[in-house]
Amino acid sequence: MLVLHILSFGFVLGITAIADKDAFLWLRGKKRVLERKTLRNYHLMIWLGLISLTISGFYLFYPMRLFLLSNLLFDVKLLFVAILFANAILIGRLMNLALTRPFAALTRNEKLSLVLSGAISAFSWFCASAIALWIF
Ligand code: HEM
Repeated sequence: MLVLHILSFGFVLGITAIADKDAFLWLRGKKRVLERKTLRNYHLMIWLGLISLTISGFYLFYPMRLFLLSNLLFDVKLLFVAILFANAILIGRLMNLALTRPFAALTRNEKLSLVLSGAISAFSWFCASAIALWIF
């Protein structure tokens, strides 16, 4: 299960890097809008990775539940995982902006929401994985 957990993590990191490359091209005006099908596929694959991480994580967690539940760092890791799920729902809504309008044409609030959700996502991925490596 640890292998599946780590492979899922690598898979999500890879897809995120590819999706972010497209997002940066749109942000810098190099691409006017993004393609609906490609963006939907990225989003779907990131959801699959997140779900696979959670299921394999649960299998790893269960035999060690007494130790892990009394470990504050593990609780903080789960908090970041919950933030990642909530943020994935938010990104699912915000990404529609990139399908129809150039970044420069967005309102100040729309730009801020996009940049904030991207930053929250990067920070939460980093913290969840850094804490996992720290605990074990
Ligand atoms: C964003 C989601 C997650 C990320 C990025 C992540 C990342 C990682 C990484 C990199 C490791 C390997 C640590 C090592 O062996 O050195 C790990 C281990 C582990 N993860 Fe996760 N994880 C996530 C979600 C979860 C969830 C939701 C659970 C529990 C429900 C969980 C439970 C565990 C456990 C118990 C281990 C220790 C396995 C062992 O070393 O025997 N993880 N995680």
